[in-house]
Amino acid sequence: MADRRQVLRIGALAAGAPAVLGATGAPAEAAPHRPGRPPSLVIGHRGASGYRPEHTLASYELAARMGADYIEPDLVATKDHVLVARHEPEIGGTTDVASRPEFASRRRTVILDGVSVTGWFTHDFTLAELKTLRATERIPRVRQHNTLYNGLFEVPTFEEVLQLRERLSRELDREIGVYPETKHPTYFRGLGLELETPLVRALRRHHLDRHDAKAFVQSFEAHNLESLHDDYKLRAPLVFLTSATGGPFGDPKSYAEYLTPAGLRQLARYADGIGPDKNQIIPRRADDTLGTPTALVRDAHAAGLKVMPYTFRAENQFLPADYRIGTDPAAYGRAIDEQVTFLRTGIDGLFTDQADIGVLARQLAFVPA
Ligand code: G3P
Ligand code: CA
Repeated sequence: MADRRQVLRIGALAAGAPAVLGATGAPAEAAPHRPGRPPSLVIGHRGASGYRPEHTLASYELAARMGADYIEPDLVATKDHVLVARHEPEIGGTTDVASRPEFASRRRTVILDGVSVTGWFTHDFTLAELKTLRATERIPRVRQHNTLYNGLFEVPTFEEVLQLRERLSRELDREIGVYPETKHPTYFRGLGLELETPLVRALRRHHLDRHDAKAFVQSFEAHNLESLHDDYKLRAPLVFLTSATGGPFGDPKSYAEYLTPAGLRQLARYADGIGPDKNQIIPRRADDTLGTPTALVRDAHAAGLKVMPYTFRAENQFLPADYRIGTDPAAYGRAIDEQVTFLRTGIDGLFTDQADIGVLARQLAFVPA
């Protein structure tokens, strides 16, 4: 069996994050091969959002330098129809807009996918106006260290993310993948700011509209993916995101229905994979400890779909109870071990806020026994 300490030492040097090493101490278990299967992908969720304010070029760059295979921009539109990287159209939670008196009058309430949301919205700002704002940490009480970077970074355009990807791919001598998500596509279409056209144009401009491109386009709305495939003729691989409850906005079909064996086979006509909530792969028990894997990985693979769940985060408050260390919700728990457990269910990749931990977990999960 490979020496876990050796694997960790190498991984930590690559990641430059020695603090991770002190956060886990579980004994190594058997480490099976994945014969005939490519390595699981490490997807830098919102970049390296565990270490930098999310969806900034600094966050994406750090994720790539930590070894992420893909960087993940969530995409929304500005008033002048430019795609920018934000998790949602409301920007009060991730920028300094609330402290900018010149934009105070832009605060308003909208109905977003049936929910009333109050704040400032990308679609009320031109790109030039948005560029005067600076990113801030979304969860400062959990990631106080990230507040160090508040005020330093712009909101990037999708074009800037794609250019960064190309520059880093050259510098690191490996192709960094990009995993864009259309956020609330029905909502933006209703505003006359549909996401599909600028997305497809950008991917084509950067030679990523190929089935073998190092790119995945993801959405929580299946009809959005179906339209990208059938109407926009997008050939980049598509991934359908699912939640443990509910269904896509405006869609009578629930996520659970999409994930039945028959539903997965239908999905495979236009999609290449699914991105489930990780609890749909291994649900938690009533006491919040990790339970037993579902059949979802097997069923999705039987339909020819990859499985790349979200979101793996190192802090105790996001971990199953049996993977926490101590009682501080912001302290790191046994995140590497959680990810190893999930990787051994056969998943094809995972979204993580701490790309360095994803890389280490993959090393531990699949080194030769
Ligand atoms: O796209 C995978 C994951 O990011 C989905 O959740 O809400 O973080 O975009 P969210
Ligand atoms: Ca996302």
